Amino acid sequence: MKKPDVYLTRKLPEEAMELLQAECNLEVNPYDRALSRGELEEAIQGIDGLLCLLTDTIDEELLSLNPDLKVVANYAVGYDNIDIEACTGRGIPVSNTPGVLTETTADLAFALLMATARRIVEADSFTKAGAYEGWGPMMFLGGDIYGKSLGIIGLGRIGQAVARRAVRGFDMEVFYYDRNRNEEMEKEYGLKYLDFEDIVKTADFISVHVPLTKETEKLFGEKEFKMMKKSSYLINTARGAVIDEKALLQALRDGEIAGAGLDVFEDEPKLTPGLWKQENIVMLPHIGSASIATRTKMAKMAAENLIAGLKGEEMPNLINPDFADA
Ligand code: NAP
Ligand code: GLV
Ligand code: GLV
Repeated sequence: MKKPDVYLTRKLPEEAMELLQAECNLEVNPYDRALSRGELEEAIQGIDGLLCLLTDTIDEELLSLNPDLKVVANYAVGYDNIDIEACTGRGIPVSNTPGVLTETTADLAFALLMATARRIVEADSFTKAGAYEGWGPMMFLGGDIYGKSLGIIGLGRIGQAVARRAVRGFDMEVFYYDRNRNEEMEKEYGLKYLDFEDIVKTADFISVHVPLTKETEKLFGEKEFKMMKKSSYLINTARGAVIDEKALLQALRDGEIAGAGLDVFEDEPKLTPGLWKQENIVMLPHIGSASIATRTKMAKMAAENLIAGLKGEEMPNLINPDFADA
C-alpha cells in the first residue's frame, strides 16, 4: 500500500523523524525557521497529514487549499493556533501533546517566578559586566517567595504542578481560579478556590495557566493591573494574548505591580516596544517545555498521533472527537 504523504513544518528530534520516515513519505521544512504563510500554503497542498507547530496558523483559508487533508497533529499542548471548528467541519481529527511537558513547563514557571522576584537576570548581567565592586546592603533588593501567596489562574495539568511546587517546596498559600473546582487538590494541598478578582487583588504572585480562548484573551488588562497590589508579580507561561501587553508595560512603568515574568508574548516573536527596557521584567523566548527529554517525548507523541490518524485509528490525544460527525 502507498505510504501517506506527510509534511512536517519543522525538523524535530531524531526519534520522531525515524518513526515518521518508516510510515510515511515525509517532507520536512528545509529551513531552520518557521515557514512563512506562503510556504505553508504551498506545503499543505496534496498531503494526507500535517505535523505542525504552535507557530503555524491552521485556519479555514489554509485548510481550503487541501480538501483531502486527513489529519493534523500539533507539536504543543496548546492549540490556539488551530481553528478546531474548521477542522471538525472538514472531518479532520486534530491532536496535541498533553501531559509529557507538564513538569518541565511547571519547572520553568517556577524558575521565572523566582528569577523575577529575586532579580536574578539583572544581577547576573551586572556581575558579568564586571560591575560588582563589593557587597552592599541595598543591592538588588527583591521580593520574598517563601511563605507568600500564589494565585494560580487555570488549575489544569501545569497549574496543579506549579501549585505542588509552591506548597511543598516554598510553604506558599495557594489560591486558584478555574472554571471547575478541584476538591482533591484543595484537600491534599490546602488550595483555596477564590473568584478571579479576589486573586487579582490579594495574591503576592499570580501565575497564568489557562489556554488562550475567546474567554481568556486579555484576561489581564489595565483594570486588573490597577487592582493588583503594588508589591505583586505576574508570571505568564501560558499564551501571551491572555495579557494585554501594552497595559502591562504601562503598569510596570507606573509601578502598579512589582514585576512580571513572561515566557510568551501577545504577537510573538514581536515584542511590544519598550517592554525590554523595563528592569522589572524577565523575558524568555517561549522555552517552557524546552528540555531535551521533554521535547523528544513531545515529538514522538505528535508523530504517533499523526500515524494513528492516518491509519484511521483513534488518535491517542484527539482534541475533537466530533470530527467523525462531519
Ligand atoms: P490544561 O490541563 O487544559 O489546563 C488548563 C486549565 O484552564 C483547565 O483546568 C481548564 O479547564 C482551565 N480553563 C480553560 N478555560 C478557562 C476559563 N475560561 N476560565 C477558567 N479556567 C479555564 O492545560 P495544560 O496542559 O495545563 O496547559 C495550559 C496551557 O499552557 C496550554 O494551553 C498552553 O497554552 C500553555 N503552555 C505553554 C508552554 C510554554 O512553553 N510556555 C508549555 C506548555 C503549555 P477545563 O479542564 O474545563 O478545560
Ligand atoms: C507550548 O507552548 C505548548 O503549548 O506546548
Ligand atoms: C550574607 O551573605 C550574610 O552572611 O548575611
